[in-house]
Amino acid sequence: MEYIELRNGVRMPLEGFGVYQVPEAEVCKRAVLDAIDSGYRLIDTAAAYFNEEAVGKAIKESGVPRSELFITTKLWIQDAGYENAKKAFQVSIDKLGLDYIDLYLIHQPFNDYYGSWRAMEDLYKKGKIRAIGVCNFYPDRLTDLAMNSEIAPMVNQVEIHPFFQQTAAIENMKALGIQAEAWGPMAEGKHGIFTHPVLTGIGKKYGKTPAQVALRWNIQRGVVVIPKSVHRERMEENISIWDFSLSDDDMAEISKLDIGHSEIIDHSSAETAKWLNGWHIHD
Ligand SMILES: NC(=O)c1ccc[n+]([C@@H]2O[C@H](COP(=O)([O-])OP(=O)(O)OC[C@H]3O[C@@H](n4cnc5c(N)ncnc54)[C@H](OP(=O)(O)O)[C@@H]3O)[C@@H](O)[C@H]2O)c1
Repeated sequence: MEYIELRNGVRMPLEGFGVYQVPEAEVCKRAVLDAIDSGYRLIDTAAAYFNEEAVGKAIKESGVPRSELFITTKLWIQDAGYENAKKAFQVSIDKLGLDYIDLYLIHQPFNDYYGSWRAMEDLYKKGKIRAIGVCNFYPDRLTDLAMNSEIAPMVNQVEIHPFFQQTAAIENMKALGIQAEAWGPMAEGKHGIFTHPVLTGIGKKYGKTPAQVALRWNIQRGVVVIPKSVHRERMEENISIWDFSLSDDDMAEISKLDIGHSEIIDHSSAETAKWLNGWHIHD
């Protein structure tokens, strides 16, 4: 496992484990225990995943010292705004059973995220959060937030995989000193990624699978990846990417797979804004 250093000096693993769409407590706890046992140290959850308690139980049971783990959770749209964000942070940290969070992210670029950001800056200054960031902020909103806050985001978690490469967005993040983190690094299985001929062909040269090639490609662009799986053999496969390097030619071949847009979600559309604003995680 390799680490990158965020702008404030905090070390973040370049690969982590995501738990989106694992709401069942026992399945989630088992998956996180298996992931930690397989070598993952970054766990990516969210209030909206309904599994912070299960993640917290696994962290305790794992026996791995807290200081070796990097725990991320996220603030949902419904809890946006200065006061609400502070309350929601306390709920998340209580569910996780932790006294600090390594990375706290605004989950979606909607509602009063400036108010949320001020709350997160305060919690960061108090030492309750080691790094603060956002998700799904496109270049315009990210630049605006960075320019109009006391502390600019340290991380932006967005969809990035070989079919949606986000090259210009990543360049913009680099210019702002913001670390890119890829959600859906295996395109949530879309585009036939696990049997894709180009990724399969490249993988054969190194004895690696298409999933491993896709993850390695992001790492070599300096992007943090957080693959999800509830199957231990896949978790192990997805973390076995530290013993090979893709050549410049491989990287160039993969760059041709970009279709330039997401086939999962478009955060610039009115439909997405309506749909996500209507998604309530509590009364
Ligand atoms: N901030 C955001 O808005 C946002 C949005 C989406 C996701 N995320 C985060 O990013 C994480 C990863 O993204 P994701 O879960 O959406 O998608 P993903 O990691 O790209 O893909 C997960 C899917 O691939 C399957 N899979 C995993 N490894 C495999 C392998 N080696 N071979 C074959 N199939 C494999 C999994 O199935 P099994 O589980 O059945 O193995 C699951 O169906 C999430 O868990 C979450 O933490 C954040």
